[in-house]
Amino acid sequence: MLAAKGGDKLVALTAYHALSASLADPHCDILLVGDSLGNVLYGFESTLPVTLDMMIAHGRAVVGASDYALVVIDMPFESYEQSKEQAFASAARVMRETGCGAVKLEGGSHFAETIAFLTARGIPVMAHIGLTPQSIHTLGSFRAQGRDEAAALSRSNTPGPIEMDAEAVAAAGAFAVVIEAVVEPLARHISAKVAIPTIGIGASPACDGQILVLEDMLGMTERTARFVERFADVRSTMNAGIAAFSSAVRNGSFPKNGNLYGVKA
Ligand code: KIV
Ligand code: NA
Repeated sequence: MLAAKGGDKLVALTAYHALSASLADPHCDILLVGDSLGNVLYGFESTLPVTLDMMIAHGRAVVGASDYALVVIDMPFESYEQSKEQAFASAARVMRETGCGAVKLEGGSHFAETIAFLTARGIPVMAHIGLTPQSIHTLGSFRAQGRDEAAALSRSNTPGPIEMDAEAVAAAGAFAVVIEAVVEPLARHISAKVAIPTIGIGASPACDGQILVLEDMLGMTERTARFVERFADVRSTMNAGIAAFSSAVRNGSFPKNGNLYGVKA
């Protein structure tokens, strides 16, 4: 399925709908239908209001528009935390109703049992550790994780909580793990130690792959985290195009004859 650890870097982007999926698919190993769509598409303050039905609707659009990449769909808040049975019922719906290849859920050691339960029942799981946005209210902020744990690396061989999360999800059968906003030396250390591919976002170039939110990476969103690199400035392009349409309508230069039926162009 995915390249082995130490092979080519895994390229992953989010996709929320058919248009972005069809553009990103030829370039990516993984397309993630991230619950970040709550922020990016719906303007929610957090990802907590995102529902399973929303993820399924967007997931179906992305699966339909991609041929190459593995489509992974985020399990939204309140769809998997209560019990492993609840997680299976939700994940099975996602798999059956979208045709995606895997699901992702936020959580490390505490969700190892759930991950093992799903993988034993035919559902490939990608884990997500470090900064987990569904837990923003208990984490308290979007600050990078693992500063103390990274500082302790040189002093002790005892793994800290984030490293233990990575080991736990790998042992539970997750096929890959997203490491989000974890200080670089710790993300690098975890990537070297854990047996499954690590996908970094605000983590380390030593991760086995990298993921960004497509709209952030294209420069469409207004504010972004430090870990986002803008590889294009689509926001200005869109602004210019919308402004040009607006003035063309107002000054009567659009539509032209070539845009009309029953008149010579
Ligand atoms: O929802 C999302 O976009 C994600 C990625 C940033 C990893 O979970
Ligand atoms: Na997410």
